Amino acid sequence: MQIHSPIPELRAALRNCGRVVFVPTMGNLHAGHIALMTQARAHGDTVVTSLFVNRLQFGPNEDFDKYPRTFAADCEKLQAAGVDVLFAPGENDLYPEPQEYLVDPPAIQNQLEGEFRPGHFRGVATVVLKLFNIVQPQAAIFGKKDYQQLMVLRNMTRQLALPIEIVGGETVRADDGLALSSRNGYLSPSERAEAPRLYRVLNAIREAVQGGDRDFAKLERDAAVELDRNGWKTDYVAVRQQADLQVPGAAEQALVVLAASRLGQPRLIDNIEIQPLQNAY
Ligand code: PAJ
Repeated sequence: MQIHSPIPELRAALRNCGRVVFVPTMGNLHAGHIALMTQARAHGDTVVTSLFVNRLQFGPNEDFDKYPRTFAADCEKLQAAGVDVLFAPGENDLYPEPQEYLVDPPAIQNQLEGEFRPGHFRGVATVVLKLFNIVQPQAAIFGKKDYQQLMVLRNMTRQLALPIEIVGGETVRADDGLALSSRNGYLSPSERAEAPRLYRVLNAIREAVQGGDRDFAKLERDAAVELDRNGWKTDYVAVRQQADLQVPGAAEQALVVLAASRLGQPRLIDNIEIQPLQNAY
């Protein structure tokens, strides 16, 4: 695996590499990230990943300084996964001057995750557009674990006519259903035992909706009450349209149920897609 930090060096390395597939990350890699690398193989000739903890997408009270940095272990995992090129820029490679030109996503950036993390999606969209311009991939893969991020980046790519295919990767979970996340490492043993409840309540909503229940507001409220009764502090549980994450209209369509809740210190997010009923009328 080649490792490059300066932008000109990376650009030189990517000349004549065929179809480039790109998987951006912030490191501290787990099996969820690695699954994206494996999936990437099927989408092109050269798999490029980036490892950069992007200051722009962290709020002032978030964990930017504490975000785990595990470069050596990450390199081993990427090498074992068959990644061809790692782009690991330093702060000065990516932000040599203050980043004053920013990508400002539409209203969705202030809803769901955005309501609780002001400026987060502006920081994500800005760094991803910049990484796209540096790597110039033909395809890029993002996990459905961060469903709203995937939607914002898919729509940005379409609206700005970037010649990049955006691919969604399925969420990788532990055996008990907990979605893998860097932040799971902050859970105490008892919190870790409680954590799969988030996936269970999302599944219960999926089953209710697939069984014909359309009282989304009640399903959302009941799920939040169940979580909070078990020691969680829930930010939201929301049934939304997959395509734009807006509140579902009357027509039968693909939905997704998303949630964010704090269990002790760590704030966990998860979601499950709900496919439209086969026999809907
Ligand atoms: P990071 O949190 O490191 O995640 C990198 C990629 O891995 C994202 O596309 C994320 O959705 C995916 N991912 C995380 N956990 C996963 C899981 N359990 N299963 C499948 N995929 C999973 O997301 C970011 O970094 C940043 O916002 C980034 C896009 C790199 C921009 O800075």
